[in-house]
Amino acid sequence: MPHRTTFSKFLIADRRRSAAPDNELVALLNDVQRACKFIAAAVSRGKLEGPGGLPNRVNVQGEEQKPLDVIANEIVLRNCEAGGQLCGMVSEEMDEPFGIAPDYPRGSYLLAFDPLDGSSNIDIDMTVGTIFSILRAPQGVDEPTAEHFLQPGTQQVAAGYALYGPCSMLVLTLGAGVHGFTLDREVGAFTLTHPDMCIPEATCEFAINASNERFWEPPVRQYVQECIQGKAGPRGVDFNTRWIASMVAEVHRILIRGGLFMYPRDTKAPAKPGRLRLLYEANPMAMIVEQAGGAASTGRERILDVQPTGIHQRIPVILGSRHEVERLVRYHEAHDRGEALVFTTPLFNTRSLFLTA
Ligand code: F6P
Ligand code: MN
Repeated sequence: MPHRTTFSKFLIADRRRSAAPDNELVALLNDVQRACKFIAAAVSRGKLEGPGGLPNRVNVQGEEQKPLDVIANEIVLRNCEAGGQLCGMVSEEMDEPFGIAPDYPRGSYLLAFDPLDGSSNIDIDMTVGTIFSILRAPQGVDEPTAEHFLQPGTQQVAAGYALYGPCSMLVLTLGAGVHGFTLDREVGAFTLTHPDMCIPEATCEFAINASNERFWEPPVRQYVQECIQGKAGPRGVDFNTRWIASMVAEVHRILIRGGLFMYPRDTKAPAKPGRLRLLYEANPMAMIVEQAGGAASTGRERILDVQPTGIHQRIPVILGSRHEVERLVRYHEAHDRGEALVFTTPLFNTRSLFLTA
């Protein structure tokens, strides 16, 4: 279709607007989208993609690393290192920041990414994705170390994700709205199909890994309990639940039809204040969600305001439709003020919906 806007054309058109991305950023985003197309191709080939039979490994964070995690990581590195727009990268799959080789030119940007989010879904052929965040390197730095990546999410100049599902999509924000592009495989181009994505303020759908219920903090337990009481409970309406175990897929659903996603603080592993990583999961998704009219909080603080302390730092995440996120923030405030919460009644403690009768 000749009138379609491809990703590259969109970026060029966007350059004419006031807060336009500079040439360097446009070129970097083109490298990122090319990497995502290669990953989309690799993911869609499943077990047909070599190297078959490679064992799973364990990454720096003690998580199982699938062969495709490693392949996706390499694809991003190789597509983005040579263009001259970056001076460093941080990835979920690498312990330390990746420095640009001395024979490549250096640029003014930093890239943080999760090459294959939700990769526990790979073997079962469910949706996975790539998440990325772009920051400016501090002035005068061209050999960045971990500390140079420790910038709050408000400093992101761009954030996005690619989703590899029945269709592959790329969703991007440059700080002025959120736009979705569908991969037209025949043409080989991400094509604008979802301009100005907008999250409804209200929702009756939430996503949380219910198996962690016993580890949640009281405000989250109260919230979930009220939702699952449905029409008969204090919310007066029936809620629906979803859990895909792939953050990209959950955020995409929320961008399309609203909803709430939570991986809150819990006591499962007290050394880890959350499950998701701040720099390359929570921050880019928080920027996207806010730009689409939603909200993103730890429960106690706006995610984008958090000052990072480590490149692989974990953080509690509550994001999606604004009214629900605000409600959860109120519950956290009440709890921290020492106010008694409803769920402490014996009824809740003896009749969790997630327990069999
Ligand atoms: O990268 C972390 C991640 O895979 C997210 O995509 C997803 O939301 C979450 O972990 C799933 O966690 P769990 O395995 O506890 O359901
Ligand atoms: Mn991930």
